[in-house]
Amino acid sequence: MFKLESRIDVNSKEFKENKQAFLKLLNEFRGIYRDVSRGGSEKAIQKHKSRGKLLARERIYKLIDPNTPFIELSTLAAYNQYDNEFPSAGIVTGIGVIHGREAVIIANDATVKGGTYMQWTIRKHLRAQEIAMENMLPTVYMVDSGGAFLPEQDRVFPDKNHFGRFFYNQARLSAMGVPQIAIVMGSCTAGGAYVPAMSDETIIVKHQGTIFLGGPPLVKAATGEEVTAEELGGADVHTSISGVADHFADNDVHAIQTCRNIFESLEQKEKQFIDIAHVEDPAYDPEELYGIAPVDLKKAVDSREVIARIVDGSKFHEFKERYAPTIVTGFARIMGYPIGILANNGVLFPESAVKGTHFIELCTSRKIPLLFLQNITGFMVGKDFERRGIAKDGAKMVHAVANADIPKFTILFGGSFGAGNYGMAGRAYDPRLLFMWPNAKISVMGGMQAANVLITVKQDQYRAKGQEMPEEEVEKLRKSIEAKYNKEGSAYYSTSRLWDDGIIDPIDTRRIVAMGIAMSLNKPFPEQKFGVFRM
Ligand code: COA
Repeated sequence: MFKLESRIDVNSKEFKENKQAFLKLLNEFRGIYRDVSRGGSEKAIQKHKSRGKLLARERIYKLIDPNTPFIELSTLAAYNQYDNEFPSAGIVTGIGVIHGREAVIIANDATVKGGTYMQWTIRKHLRAQEIAMENMLPTVYMVDSGGAFLPEQDRVFPDKNHFGRFFYNQARLSAMGVPQIAIVMGSCTAGGAYVPAMSDETIIVKHQGTIFLGGPPLVKAATGEEVTAEELGGADVHTSISGVADHFADNDVHAIQTCRNIFESLEQKEKQFIDIAHVEDPAYDPEELYGIAPVDLKKAVDSREVIARIVDGSKFHEFKERYAPTIVTGFARIMGYPIGILANNGVLFPESAVKGTHFIELCTSRKIPLLFLQNITGFMVGKDFERRGIAKDGAKMVHAVANADIPKFTILFGGSFGAGNYGMAGRAYDPRLLFMWPNAKISVMGGMQAANVLITVKQDQYRAKGQEMPEEEVEKLRKSIEAKYNKEGSAYYSTSRLWDDGIIDPIDTRRIVAMGIAMSLNKPFPEQKFGVFRM
C-alpha cells in the first residue's frame, strides 16, 4: 500500500487557529467527563465507601485484566438533563478484557439515586446487552441497584424496550451460548432480582448483597411479617438455603476475583479468522487531528488527512480515487486489522452513492470490516439530480449499508446531516460502535437551512392570502429555529440521549476502532446477502 502524502501545513495560521479552537472544545469535554465520572454527590460517595464498598468504576478496573483498555460507553448519558442529578445515568457500561476475553460489563452506580433506573439508565443497560448480542460477548452484571426509579415508572416499566427487556435479553443471550454472570454487590430489589436469578452463575457479597422480590417494608405492608433485609435475601440465605446465588464472597475484591475465576472455565470459542498484520503507528502524528477536525463545519476538510492520522503507517489503498471525489473509499489497516474506509469529502452525488455501494460490496464479499468517517451535509438536491434519479442511487447505498453484515463502525468527525447520516451508517444502521468527536454535529439538516425552509413555507401561506410575512416575524422564526438546531445538534445533546456510544478524543479513534474489530471477531461473519438494488 502507498503512504498518503499530507498536504497540510501544520505551521499555517489556519491550522494553528483550528487547533486552538479544537483544544478549547476538548478541554471543556475533558472537564465535563472528569466531573461526571466521579459519580454521585460527595455525601453519597462517602456513605457508599463507609459500607466497605468499591465505587462502580473501581470495581470494573479490578475486574478487567491489568493494563488493558476499557471502552466506557455513553459516559455523558443524561448529561444536562434532570438537573444533572444522574451522572452517567447512574450506570457504567463498557467493553473490557477479562482473562483475555472481550466482555461487556454493566455496573450500577449506587451513589446515583441508589443505582435506580430512569429512562437513560434503561437505554444504557439495553445498549450494552445489544453489543453483547451482536458480538457474542460474555456479560458481567455488577448489581447494586434499587430497581426502577419510581417517579419515572411510565418511562421504565411497561414498554418493549423497558426494564422487562433486560431479562428477555439475558434469556436469549444465555440460549445463544453467551455467558451471563452476575455479581450482587448491593441491592437487587423487585424486578432487579431477576438479574442474578436469570444469570448462568451468580456471586453475592456478604452483608452487602441482597436479592428479593419485595423488600422488608413491602413485606410488612403486604403480610405483616417483620424481617430484616439480611434474613429476607442476604448472601447467607441465597448461597445456603434458596440457591438463588452460587458463590459467597467476603467483600467486593473477593467477588471480583471469583468472577475472574469463572471466566477461566468458560468455553473457548473459535473466533472469526481475519488476516492480522504487524501494528504500525500512523506516519503522521495523530495529535495533528486537533488542527484538522472541522470546528467550523463550513470549512472543507480532505478526509484523507484524517485517514492518514488513524491508519497504520498512514498507508491507504484508495479505490476509485479519480471517480466521484466527494466520497473517499479504500483499504487500510488499524492496529494490524484490515479495514475498508468510506469517508466524506463533501455532499453525496448520485455517482458518490454508487461508488460507496460498490465499495461496500467489495468489503462484504472479502469479509473486511467497514469504517465510516462521517462529515456529511447530505445528498445533493435540485432538478438535475432528481432527474438523474439520485433517490434510487442513494437508496442503493442505504440498501448496501443496511444489509452489510460484516462489522461496521462509525465515527462522526464533522457534520452528520440528512439522509447522508443513513448512507454513512448512522445509528439506525446498526454500526457495532458509533462515536462522535467533540466538534461533531448531528441533525436532520443545518439550522440555517431548516430556518429557511420553514420561513419559505410560512411566506407561501401569507402569499396565498395575498399578504407578506412581516420582516420581524421572519427574523423571530429564523432566530428561534437556528437556536434550537444549534442546541439540539451538539455532540452533548446527542450523547446525553444515547444517539451515539460516546464522545471521544480524536486520538483515541484508532484504539477504539481496533478494540471494536477485536470484539467483533467473537461472532463469525455471516455469508452476505443483499436485497434488490434499483438500477
Ligand atoms: N425510586 C426513586 N428513588 C429512589 C429509589 C427508587 N426506587 N430508591 C432509592 N431512591 C433514591 C432515594 O430517594 C435517595 O435519593 P436522594 O439522593 O435524592 O436523597 C437515593 O436514591 C439514595 O437512597 P437511600 O435510601 O438514601 O440510599 P441507600 O444506599 O441507603 O439505599 C436502596 C439504597 C436502593 C437500597 C434503598 O433506597 C431502597 O431500598 N430503595 C427502594 C427500592 C425498591 O423498593 N425498589 C422497587 C423498584 S420496583
